Amino acid sequence: MRKQIAAANWKMNLSQNEAETLLDQILATEHHLSGNQEAIFAVPAIYIPLAVQKLSGKNNVFVAAQNCHQKTSGAYTGEIAASMYASAGVHHIVLGHSERREYFAESDALLAEKTDAVLAIGSTPIFCCGEPLSIREAGTQNSFVEAQLKNSLFHLSADQIVKVVIAYEPIWAIGTGKTATSDQAQEIHAYIRSVFATKYGASIADQISILYGGSVKASNAKEIFSQPDVDGGLVGGASLIATEFAAIINALK
Ligand code: PGA
Repeated sequence: MRKQIAAANWKMNLSQNEAETLLDQILATEHHLSGNQEAIFAVPAIYIPLAVQKLSGKNNVFVAAQNCHQKTSGAYTGEIAASMYASAGVHHIVLGHSERREYFAESDALLAEKTDAVLAIGSTPIFCCGEPLSIREAGTQNSFVEAQLKNSLFHLSADQIVKVVIAYEPIWAIGTGKTATSDQAQEIHAYIRSVFATKYGASIADQISILYGGSVKASNAKEIFSQPDVDGGLVGGASLIATEFAAIINALK
């Protein structure tokens, strides 16, 4: 059975005190994770030691990084390598979020390198893809997303691709309060799975978790996650409110 994942993406938010309070509040909520379910917290890099310490010993709960550098070490002032995160207890790394693609000019080719760097040390990439509004309006979202996946991931072996978590996030739904309908999410998630099935075979494609992101909240999570090819969510705004995120965890299949 595929992993069902609620992943919080805090982005560049919260002071250290606020981060600590939020983690304490989440720990105090009623939330349940069964064997195939995970909660992942992608916190700002500087709060990783705090989050690792607070969440240590919690079953199926992980801390993630929001980005990493593609090289293993060297003269890259201000950057953090995937192996450094691993040495600090972090084995999931979000890659290719649309904000990084847009504001930091991350290309498909660069993201292929970052994916390799994360897999090389045995960590898990949470690889983001998704189309802007103009592409959705033109109706060409499937081929747009397919190209993102092909360009950054198709060099991977079958053994490697099953270790990647995909997050489909339509850019027009991120932080806008507009979500894709659950049918729209299912349609493109099924398409993404078919893209992997064509390349790697159906049994490999069936093992890949595909998260939906874009204005997921407590009130819509259950319906979106109930779709057969939606394996949880990558959550921005609502992950900053403990009760919201706890409800999103509890909405996992
Ligand atoms: P949002 O962000 O939930 O605030 O729309 C999602 C994301 O960017 O990962």
